Amino acid sequence: MQTRRIGAAQVSTIGLGGMPMSIEGRPDEARSLATIHAALDAGVTFIDTADAYHRDADEVGHNESLIAKALSAHDGGSDVLVATKGGHLRPGDGSWTFDGSPDHLKQACEASIKRLGVEAIGLYQFHRPDPKVPYADSVGALAELLDEGKIRMAGISNANPDQIRLANDILGGRLVSVQNQFSPAFRSSEAELALCDELGIAFLPWSPFGGITKAAGLGSRFAPFAQVAQAHGVSPQQVCLAWMLTLSPHLVPIPGSSRPDTIKDSAAAAELTLDPAELALLSAS
Ligand SMILES: NC(=O)c1ccc[n+]([C@@H]2O[C@H](COP(=O)([O-])OP(=O)(O)OC[C@H]3O[C@@H](n4cnc5c(N)ncnc54)[C@H](OP(=O)(O)O)[C@@H]3O)[C@@H](O)[C@H]2O)c1
Repeated sequence: MQTRRIGAAQVSTIGLGGMPMSIEGRPDEARSLATIHAALDAGVTFIDTADAYHRDADEVGHNESLIAKALSAHDGGSDVLVATKGGHLRPGDGSWTFDGSPDHLKQACEASIKRLGVEAIGLYQFHRPDPKVPYADSVGALAELLDEGKIRMAGISNANPDQIRLANDILGGRLVSVQNQFSPAFRSSEAELALCDELGIAFLPWSPFGGITKAAGLGSRFAPFAQVAQAHGVSPQQVCLAWMLTLSPHLVPIPGSSRPDTIKDSAAAAELTLDPAELALLSAS
């Protein structure tokens, strides 16, 4: 698969999002391991996770542990950039809470290092701004983690343009990625995408198909994606990723998956070329 750059790393143009393998509705472990291995076999070298990708309160880091297990059992595992996150919590009742305090982020990072079985985390992202903690303080913790060598690269998620500029300043120009929601149904991160292009940093669209519960209906909600898919004999989801890749050379989608077939299908988007008329139709839909 062709590659794109995230900071100093070259990664596959299509990544893998790990969330569906660890939250409510997740499959058994064998299917999750098979899904991650199918991704690697298809050339995927970038996997997104978070310590908060778990279901029950007592299994923080479920997804990180799963990914570590899958990578250690595959020849290509050492070539993968794993991006994890801290600052979001799941108390076990289905809700998502925050702790963006520097103390929490540093402890969370140490725990992620252990679960991933690495000396330093490839890409560590501040998951979501905590309304109770000044943004500069949370990002300041990432700067310290970089300086201490606990993380190799730093990113942020769910950030607006002001927060992106502030984070990049606090990190001394070392911000490498922004992970925001972006899909045919949710295009309001276009300002952040444009800013990432201007700064030359990676933009990682989360929930590129609209999220776990809506992904299957992408083609019925956005008819042009189904129309273009039919013309190419591929899935609307594959068309969606191929379209996204044309929006910016800094964009690396992270489609979530919990089945080998879906990540194989998504990975093939890297080879799908759409013509200008098709791209215009999709962008206007
Ligand atoms: N930073 C944040 O705040 C944040 C928030 C949400 C998500 N994320 C990240 O972004 C990733 C992606 O988002 P998401 O998982 O919420 O939603 P998504 O990628 O929009 O949708 C995921 C679902 O799409 C299905 N799918 C994947 N490839 C497909 C294909 N080629 N054809 C048909 N269906 C396909 C999968 O089904 P199967 O399960 O059947 O394989 C999966 O459950 C997450 O996994 C996570 O890593 C980050």
